[in-house]
Amino acid sequence: MKKRILSGMRPTGKLHLGHLAGALENWVKLQDEYECFFMSADWHALMSEYEDSANLKENIIDNAADWLACGISPEKSTIFIQSQVKEHLELHMVFSVITPLGLLERCPTYKEQLREITNRNLSTYGFLGYPVLQAADILLYQAEAVPVGEDQLPHLELTRQIARKFNNIFKQEFFKDPKALLTVTKRLPGLDGRKMSKSYDNYIALSEKPEAVIKKIQSMFTDPTRIKLTDPGHPDKCNVRNYYSVFAPEKEKEISRLCPESKIGCTECKKQLAGLIVQLLEPIQERKAKLLKDKSGLLDILEAGRKKASSFAAETMAEVRKLIKL
Ligand code: TRP
Ligand code: SF4
Repeated sequence: MKKRILSGMRPTGKLHLGHLAGALENWVKLQDEYECFFMSADWHALMSEYEDSANLKENIIDNAADWLACGISPEKSTIFIQSQVKEHLELHMVFSVITPLGLLERCPTYKEQLREITNRNLSTYGFLGYPVLQAADILLYQAEAVPVGEDQLPHLELTRQIARKFNNIFKQEFFKDPKALLTVTKRLPGLDGRKMSKSYDNYIALSEKPEAVIKKIQSMFTDPTRIKLTDPGHPDKCNVRNYYSVFAPEKEKEISRLCPESKIGCTECKKQLAGLIVQLLEPIQERKAKLLKDKSGLLDILEAGRKKASSFAAETMAEVRKLIKL
């Protein structure tokens, strides 16, 4: 029996290279070893996008097409939309009742987001409970492990605390402790060196056209001390090098040798990188175009995912209702 894992992504916009390097490539690899549930976390997206949610539906479909185009297989994995499986909210409610406020108020991701996201009001009841819903996502499927980036570790810790609290109160070892699967997730900085993010407009979308890829990469800052071609470069001070190391580690070694010896110029270095990225994205874009042409096929995949997820979720909720005596 394969171990079950679950992961999710919020459909807040188009997927970009950061999603590919940081999550999707990893998800694709995990499919053979684990029984995988991949979820579009639209309730979680709504928590921050509630004033501007017009694109959520479109993003869900677009992201799902990207997942499939990148190699997520509907034969191997269950792909579904969080809001289509009602039990997520039911278990979220049960967990809300038993989760101490202090745990949520002290959660480092919560404090950070309140501080950093100033263009919308996140001082809401729902947003405070973000990790409670995530705990419900994970425990509803009795997932043993959760592939996530480091930024999500506090949410996983909260999930374990909620699971234990539930088990204590209802005197059953009902929920198992889910583990983090922190496998080779590679962090890719944005084009400007900050975190790659829609809100900084410093990303390369998976759907980016070749001309746009070339333009964006040519505009990247390189080693600031390298002014003329003959100045020796410092690849460790250059974000272009990070991109090579994530997408072409072999080539990165070559660049790291040539650059300090002034044997390659930054324009050429970036031109070659752009070529590699264009080549990487081309087959993904071709597959995605085909998937989007057959929208009903795509919706069928999500419907099959909903059915499968629902049957697991209903089973867990039936047990939970018995335990809480409702
Ligand atoms: N909070 C996660 C993120 O922003 C998305 C998410 C929602 C998730 N539910 C999940 C991830 C359950 C793993 C498991 O990346
Ligand atoms: Fe960066 Fe490449 Fe220029 Fe070296 S040659 S500084 S690695 S862009």
